[in-house]
Amino acid sequence: MLFFIVCCSIVLVASCLLYKILCALNVSIDELRIVDAGIPLPDCILQAVTVHCGQWNWMPTLCRVYFVGIIETIYITVCKRILPDRVFNQKTKTGNTAVVGDSASSFVNLPVAVIVGADSGIGVEICSELLKNGFRVIVGSRSLKACHDALTFVKKATESDKLHILKVDFTSFQSVRNFADKVKLYLQDKRIRLLINNAGVMNTPFSTTIDGYESQCQINYLAPFLLTKLLLPSMDTMEGRILFASSSTIYAINNLDTNMPIRKYGLNGLDHYAYSKACIAQLAKHMSRTTPIKVFVYHPGTVRTKLFQHTTIFTLPLLSKIFDFIMLSPKEGAETPLYLCLTRDNVESGAYWANKHNYHIPSVTINNLWDRTDLLWEDTMLKCGLTRHE
Ligand SMILES: NC(=O)c1ccc[n+]([C@@H]2O[C@H](COP(=O)([O-])OP(=O)(O)OC[C@H]3O[C@@H](n4cnc5c(N)ncnc54)[C@H](OP(=O)(O)O)[C@@H]3O)[C@@H](O)[C@H]2O)c1
Repeated sequence: MLFFIVCCSIVLVASCLLYKILCALNVSIDELRIVDAGIPLPDCILQAVTVHCGQWNWMPTLCRVYFVGIIETIYITVCKRILPDRVFNQKTKTGNTAVVGDSASSFVNLPVAVIVGADSGIGVEICSELLKNGFRVIVGSRSLKACHDALTFVKKATESDKLHILKVDFTSFQSVRNFADKVKLYLQDKRIRLLINNAGVMNTPFSTTIDGYESQCQINYLAPFLLTKLLLPSMDTMEGRILFASSSTIYAINNLDTNMPIRKYGLNGLDHYAYSKACIAQLAKHMSRTTPIKVFVYHPGTVRTKLFQHTTIFTLPLLSKIFDFIMLSPKEGAETPLYLCLTRDNVESGAYWANKHNYHIPSVTINNLWDRTDLLWEDTMLKCGLTRHE
């Protein structure tokens, strides 16, 4: 009963807050349909509010990150937990119409997917669905035992010999290079159909990696960039797809600061997290212009996983129960990346995807960042130790 009352109060306060914000922003409903007429109204509202928030330069980045998180939690509570989808007549895009063609019926011809970060949360769901959809999956994990344990049920449900686990730790560039070499060896003359950079950490206690960078920056954007550059020549140029896990917190970032990976935390690590996710979105967009392979960035939603273990508010006893109810399950969180992996729709390369919809990252939000893409690209190449020929 108490739980119910607390939930109702939160929703009430949240709805009033959202209404007030919209009034303050003075945006009409038509203006909110800023991206594509097919996007449901609540998603447009969410987008409009977060875009505006990115322009509030008077607010510290950390506050903008929290603000984006709160707005999205309100959106999930109202749209996913209280009102059924059909209220907004949302067309459900199902990705599970596999891209695997009939030619993939024999084991040798199975398309290959490479995923890093599949030993917990959203990654496990992605891996499981890819196996069910006829992929041979190579998983990169920093702990082989933990990964084997996490994927035991997946192996039982599918043919275990379609799953191959290799060691990789994103806190070390050398480990990324070793992993890429092992993947190439395993592939022989085959090509990678899907590369999914799902590994990530959030708000971890401050630490620097063996390569001297702040861990979140290295794990969330430097290492996935390096891995992708190394595996790009092994990708299937006709049907290949590259996915990067980003986050809606990118909307809180409106400045490029190449010193961020060597900078200490302020109050906590959330602004480093948002910055790292903004950089990977930016680099992916840039990459999409230089390769025929489709490149996507996805935000899975606010999903209840161990990603939040270092952010106090999500671990407090009562609030924890509320978040268990409100936040998306890993299965729900896997819907957008799976849609991008499996759909036969002609999806646009270089876009940012959330809730199975394509959003153009508004240039007003991270103008400074967009204008300086080349600088970010060159800086990232340098930090990863990549040569011009790689
Ligand atoms: N959950 C959300 O609400 C949310 C929202 C926006 C974006 N995302 C993004 O979605 C992705 C998946 O997150 P999740 O929620 O499923 O979190 P999760 O359960 O914590 O999964 C993160 C995965 O990344 C792996 N990983 C962490 N550090 C690594 C390292 N140094 N080297 C290799 N792998 C490493 C983890 O492996 P271990 O098991 O060994 O730690 C785990 O498999 C992340 O990139 C995250 O930033 C999540």
